[in-house]
Amino acid sequence: MAIIFDEQNKTFTIHTEHSTYQMQIDPYGVLLHLYYGRKTKGCMDYLLQKQDRGFSGNLYDAGNDRTYSLDVLPQEFPTWGTGDYRSTALIVRGQDGTTACDLRYRGYRILSGKYGLSGLPAVYGAEKEAQTLEVVLEDGRTGIQVTLLYGVLPKYDVITRSAQIINTKENIIYLEKAASACLDFVTGKYDVISFYGRHAMERNYQRIPVSHGNYVIGSRRGTSSHQYSPFLILTEEGTTEDAGACYAMSFVYSGGFQAEVEKDQFGQNRMLMGLQPEQFSYPLNTGEVFVIPETVMTYSRNGLAELSQNLHRCFRNNLCRGPHKEKVRPILINSWEASYFDFDGESILKLAEEAKELGIEMLVLDDGWFGKRRDDNRALGDWQVNEEKLKCSLGELSAKIHAMGLKFGLWVEPEMVSEDSDLYRAHPDWLIGAPDRFESHSRHQHVLDFSRPEVVDFIYDSISKVIEESSISYIKWDMNRYMSEPFSRGASAADQGKTMHKYILGVYELYTRLTERFPDILFESCASGGARFDPGMLYFAPQTWTSDDTDAAEREKIQYGTSFVYPIVSMGSHVSAVPNHQLHRTTPLSTRANVAYFGTFGYELDLNLLSDEEIEEVKAQVEFMKEHRDLIQVEGDFYRILSPFEGNDTAWMVVSRDKKQAVAGYYERLNKVNASWMRLRFKGLDEDQLYKVKWEDKCLKAYGNELMYAGIPVDRDYCNKTNGDFHSVLYTIEAED
Ligand code: DGJ
Repeated sequence: MAIIFDEQNKTFTIHTEHSTYQMQIDPYGVLLHLYYGRKTKGCMDYLLQKQDRGFSGNLYDAGNDRTYSLDVLPQEFPTWGTGDYRSTALIVRGQDGTTACDLRYRGYRILSGKYGLSGLPAVYGAEKEAQTLEVVLEDGRTGIQVTLLYGVLPKYDVITRSAQIINTKENIIYLEKAASACLDFVTGKYDVISFYGRHAMERNYQRIPVSHGNYVIGSRRGTSSHQYSPFLILTEEGTTEDAGACYAMSFVYSGGFQAEVEKDQFGQNRMLMGLQPEQFSYPLNTGEVFVIPETVMTYSRNGLAELSQNLHRCFRNNLCRGPHKEKVRPILINSWEASYFDFDGESILKLAEEAKELGIEMLVLDDGWFGKRRDDNRALGDWQVNEEKLKCSLGELSAKIHAMGLKFGLWVEPEMVSEDSDLYRAHPDWLIGAPDRFESHSRHQHVLDFSRPEVVDFIYDSISKVIEESSISYIKWDMNRYMSEPFSRGASAADQGKTMHKYILGVYELYTRLTERFPDILFESCASGGARFDPGMLYFAPQTWTSDDTDAAEREKIQYGTSFVYPIVSMGSHVSAVPNHQLHRTTPLSTRANVAYFGTFGYELDLNLLSDEEIEEVKAQVEFMKEHRDLIQVEGDFYRILSPFEGNDTAWMVVSRDKKQAVAGYYERLNKVNASWMRLRFKGLDEDQLYKVKWEDKCLKAYGNELMYAGIPVDRDYCNKTNGDFHSVLYTIEAED
């Protein structure tokens, strides 16, 4: 049993395969956190120490006991206003203006299977693989009842957390801050790892020591954002990829979030993950329930690789849904960087013909096929096919592409409207925007108010019609601006604090309806590249366009950073033209593919411009991916070997679960004169197994222990001879019988 309640000690213990989580109801009914880490047995309440904390504030019920202070005790769900001055999980404001909230234990339930969350994405788990713990807490005065939800998926070492908040009294209350997970670490020295970025440069790795004060990241943009990922890792000092203790929190939500690590006056560390409080003030009427989006937590004692792999497996198998989640993904050609808005039906068919020749399996028609969309200044919202431009209907175009033996995919941006559009002219009040103000525009477009059901209904009908009328296997769902002037013209003044959250619920609602109506379509989410690469999106769309930067050398960093949380099969990765359209950098075709293999794989260039030599190379690349994608996308575990954030070299690899096969990529950014020796040490292999390693025209036989502990020499002199920066080597590794 994963969850145990010990009546005598009043402890809840959660076991996963390699970790234990423990909490205790203390004599005052406060739910204290006792432990999270490597697997243990027994009750660990001996860990709680007592000391005079009279200057910190003592709970009223504790009477003269000056050792009892919420300001120092480790807690499961700390609230504001009753003596804990650290950052808290919950802040509520009563109708009378009070902000104190004092939650005490009322009861619990242990259930088979993993809880689900109404209207929100969440990890799922059947009765045999998961359990749920519900712990009910209540504030007697305000009548706020909180049900803490813990989901346990032992095989991934994953524990999820969410909470439902109910107003049981006659007064209205306002939720001002709501985090779903809090972890208190009473002792220890830690580093915090987070991922920052900007458009076309997402998920850069940053690791810093936790020091006194608060480290806070988040998004106020209405998307989970390019700037910070809804994800944090806390590592014990010295933890590496392969050794040491680390904890992760990943927020299953696609809007504003806040993630915090606070080191307090006593050197204790608190880690929190939840909704962005600044745009949030959620009124709860009598009987109303608010569900805080889920946080997925995992613990590894064996370093960051294992931590990531726990999340990869959990997300791949128990977060992503639909028929594609455990299947290899089609190799596609996307029209965006091939021709942007400059295409017609004929040029698309020509692109498809060339793609077919090369072995590519799907053509995706990106932006520009609808309304009067000749550039990005207009027509969003007008989801009617521009037959004049295509010189045929979408049904006819997709039929012709199917007849060639290719699948057909389409780009949409359902949440947006251009000022120059029929939709805007008909419904100017459907945009998010404050009264008596001009709405800031971004990429000449505005955000539709998806907090209003009639807007979601309208877009659902128009997009469904387009899908019905043609033969579509894939949809790229884009979202190209952040929210500003966040105000819903369909809501009262009192309800404006709900707008940004309700917007995301509207997005989830549309995703739910479209994926249910068209269950076979493969969805790829996108938000100007990776501004909404989050687990919330993966619940609906099992892959995400990782970044608008398709330069191979930049992609090494972007995909390396992304791999800390997300499985590589979820990363949209394409080979694009050189000079690269974002950076004007030229990288070898081989390196562009060697990076893109570690993702969904496709092309994003005008195939008709390839030279004969390049055509042969692309054919070989497509063949390579077809041969190895089962390992890369479905079967394998991903290991990071060399970090692009630490030097000139990057390396990573994928190893099959049975350790019989692997593919590794090594990438050198700038070439070196008179280069020093270099040995690449593989990971994840079977120590005693003899392997055959092949790369370029070379081959070597060696045991797993040799390949992992001594490594193999990387021939960097060879790089010099080819006179190239951005050289890369792809290794295939196979067990010898
Ligand atoms: C931004 C996306 O990230 C691109 O891939 C492309 O689809 C454009 N939008 C189209 O407008």
